[in-house]
Amino acid sequence: MDSSQTQALVDEAAGLVASCGDANALANAKARFLGRDGLLTQRMKSLGKLSGAERAAAGRELNAAKQRIEALLAEREAAIEAALLDARLSAEAIDVTLPGRSAGHGGLHPLTLTIARVEEIFRSIGFDVADGPEIEEDFFNFTALNTPADHPARSMHDTFYVDPVAGAQPGLLLRTHTSPMQIRYARAHQPPIRVIAPGKAYRVDSDATHSPMFHQVEGLWVDDDISLADLKNVYADFLAQFFERDDIDLRFRPSYFPFTEPSAEIDMRFADGPLAGRWLEVSGAGQVHPDVVRNIGLDPERYIGFAFGSGIERLTMLRYGVGDLRVFYENDLRFLQQFSR
Ligand code: DAH
Repeated sequence: MDSSQTQALVDEAAGLVASCGDANALANAKARFLGRDGLLTQRMKSLGKLSGAERAAAGRELNAAKQRIEALLAEREAAIEAALLDARLSAEAIDVTLPGRSAGHGGLHPLTLTIARVEEIFRSIGFDVADGPEIEEDFFNFTALNTPADHPARSMHDTFYVDPVAGAQPGLLLRTHTSPMQIRYARAHQPPIRVIAPGKAYRVDSDATHSPMFHQVEGLWVDDDISLADLKNVYADFLAQFFERDDIDLRFRPSYFPFTEPSAEIDMRFADGPLAGRWLEVSGAGQVHPDVVRNIGLDPERYIGFAFGSGIERLTMLRYGVGDLRVFYENDLRFLQQFSR
């Protein structure tokens, strides 16, 4: 056996090992040369036929060849493992430069923003904020407010009635205004009373400026020494703060409500801007009728009350320049998103 044959074997092994693509192929290559019947193993087995000096030289040569092939196999094995790891790393890669998927921001509805704003302003001048039932008793919605069953003013306040069920209280309806809160709150508190009560109200009404469900804010101020001038000052202050403008004019236009005497509509007018010069109705108001003061449980000879009831939708439309009230209820995000902060 000559060394050129051994070298040829090593070369063959190097070629085969280099072509191995995975651990399996590598194991086959190893068996082909170093296995029990492997090409190199066979040669080693034949050493015994050689004479002493030849055997020593050939043995060294074959051992060196074996070590070389083992080294080639180890190298290739390491390279295959590294390639596998690389492939896995790039397959499972996370691109940390991609923008994250955010949860999205919610926003408050414009009417909710208006209510919060109205509450904040009135709280800052010493008014309490009260909340009351939307399913109201006929008594609080009408009778206690000087509007008995046969009163013609009821026809403007047609609403949704709750069918009396067996054992339930009769005369329940969806409140047509927030005014019943005047009675509820004033019966539970001692003068001086300063309160606003924002909330939902319901009527059989539906067009560009009326919705069957809408929002009002009621105001009530009862004391023993106040006048309509005080109400006017407070309301003028409120409007200036609400609209953040000092070009607002106010007028009290005579009107009629069963529960106030005298009664008025409060109109406002901007001096500047797109609505300049037009009188806009924003609220009903008046001096609480003596009968209503009595219904509260107070002596009208001693106490005087002033009240107002303003439309939340109307205030919101004027503040943001919205022309049709129905957009508040259509849940169109393109509209609503403009108000989220
Ligand atoms: N409740 C009346 C309505 O909905 C508005 C109103 C007018 C409220 C005069 C008041 C008031 O408190 O004094 O039409």
